[in-house]
Amino acid sequence: MIVWREQKMSVGNTMIDADHRYLMCLINTVELALRSESYRDVIDIVLEQLEQYAREHFDREEKLQVELRYIRYDQHAQRHRELLRELDQIRSRVQALATPEAAAAIAGEIAQLLRHWLVNHIFQEDMLLKPLFSQQRR
Ligand SMILES: [Fe+2]
Ligand SMILES: [Fe+2]
Repeated sequence: MIVWREQKMSVGNTMIDADHRYLMCLINTVELALRSESYRDVIDIVLEQLEQYAREHFDREEKLQVELRYIRYDQHAQRHRELLRELDQIRSRVQALATPEAAAAIAGEIAQLLRHWLVNHIFQEDMLLKPLFSQQRR
C-alpha cells in the first residue's frame, strides 16, 4: 500500500496533488487486483485506467509548466514520455501472467515498481515545480 503524506509529497498545487493522490489510489488498486482470485476480470481495466489517468495528469502538469514558463519543461515532458513507456512494459509483464497464483506471486513486486515509478518522479522532478507554485500564490 502506498499512502499520501501531505508534508512530504505535496508540491503546493491543489490540482497536481489531487492527481498524485488518485494515481496512488490506482496503484493500490492494481496491487489488490493482482491478489484477487478473479484478477483476470479486473486487471486490464485497472491498468488501462492507470495509464489513461497518468496521460491526463502529465498533460495537465505540462500545460501548467508552459503557463508558468518553467525552464526545464522539455526535460520534464520527455521524462513523462519515458514514464509512459515504462508503464507499458510493466503492463506487458502483467498481461503475460497466466494464473491467479502467478499474479499473486508478483503482486508485491509490481506494486513496488509502480510506487517507485510514481514517487521517484514526484520527488525528483515534480518537486522542482514547488517554488513556481508558491510564487504563483503570492
Ligand atoms: Fe506529476
Ligand atoms: Fe511530472
